[in-house]
Amino acid sequence: MSRSRSSLLFWTVLFLAFGAGGSLAYIYSGIYDISATKQHTRLVYWVMSTARRQSIKTHAAGDVLPPDVADANLVSAGLVLFDRHCSQCHGAPGIAPGPIGLGMAPSPPNFAQMGRDLPAEEMYWAISNGIKLTGMPAWAFRLSERERWALVAFLKRSTALTPADYRAQRDRLASAGVGEATSRDSGGRWEPDGAAERGRVAIQQYACATCHVIPGIRGADAQVGPSLEGIAERLYIAGNLTNTPAHMVEWLRDPQKINPLSAMPDLGVTERDARDIAAYLYSLR
Ligand code: HEC
Ligand code: HEC
Repeated sequence: MSRSRSSLLFWTVLFLAFGAGGSLAYIYSGIYDISATKQHTRLVYWVMSTARRQSIKTHAAGDVLPPDVADANLVSAGLVLFDRHCSQCHGAPGIAPGPIGLGMAPSPPNFAQMGRDLPAEEMYWAISNGIKLTGMPAWAFRLSERERWALVAFLKRSTALTPADYRAQRDRLASAGVGEATSRDSGGRWEPDGAAERGRVAIQQYACATCHVIPGIRGADAQVGPSLEGIAERLYIAGNLTNTPAHMVEWLRDPQKINPLSAMPDLGVTERDARDIAAYLYSLR
């Protein structure tokens, strides 16, 4: 290696080492202000909003076939769902976001702006998968595919609704019982291959990590419940049921039916999600 090449290498390595060291020092110093009352710096805002826009565009491209989003029944079902699950953050015609939405940074975008800006399949993707680091929840484990398309249909039509129309329709639909029971099929394009892999996603989506140590799940180090490490070797589930897959599903779906004094709540886990979660848990040796 020539002398000038090796000195270039030396300075590059030194520069990178200082850069990495400086970033670590900055992070550990706690100088960065993460409060939601301070707006993002221009750079952080640019990084976050550009990454969000580009990521949604890239991931939504492909094989989703939107149903007819102009279908009036779909729009009505969407209105009811939006009122129940989304308006507290995104507002609705003539309705301000609630305290949760108002206190967030970044602010959840206004429903009408989203309806105008986003193509149907990008909306569908964002609704199904949520958006990390913003507070936008994923709905794939909460609402069926049809319900998620209904929300898209509503958002696409929402700019045509006056506040009076919105209220009148909402009250009419509520008294007709539209959207009473929300079904959940947990479908979604993102679906990974195999039950155990899907179970891993479900574990995250049911917040199991907030109470248990679970190998392979980032941040699952809580001590509210017992560690699930090696649960496959355990003879009993929660000291009550013999450890079989069927009993595991039963426990996950309604722990308090088995032990009314248990601190583990009924999380509304569907049959399929429980089976996939069990597949993941039994894969932990
Ligand atoms: C807890 C508050 C909250 C709830 C509830 C919520 N959202 Fe969001 N939503 C957000 C935030 C925050 C963002 C991202 C804002 C950003 O990155 O600028 C977002 C982003 C979105 C986007 C993408 C917008 C874009 O321009 O990329 C869509 C679409 C969306 N939400 C639809 C919905 C629907 C439909 C519901 C109800 C099923 C819903 N949201 C419920 C907070 C929420
Ligand atoms: C609010 C806290 C909490 C949440 C959330 C929670 N659990 Fe639990 N879990 C517990 C507690 C507490 C116990 C012990 C209950 C008992 O023995 O009655 C328990 C017990 C269990 C057991 C039996 C463990 C053993 O050692 O026999 C399994 C398996 C389990 N939970 C899995 C899950 C999964 C999977 C999820 C997510 C779908 C979950 N838990 C969500 C608190 C929680």
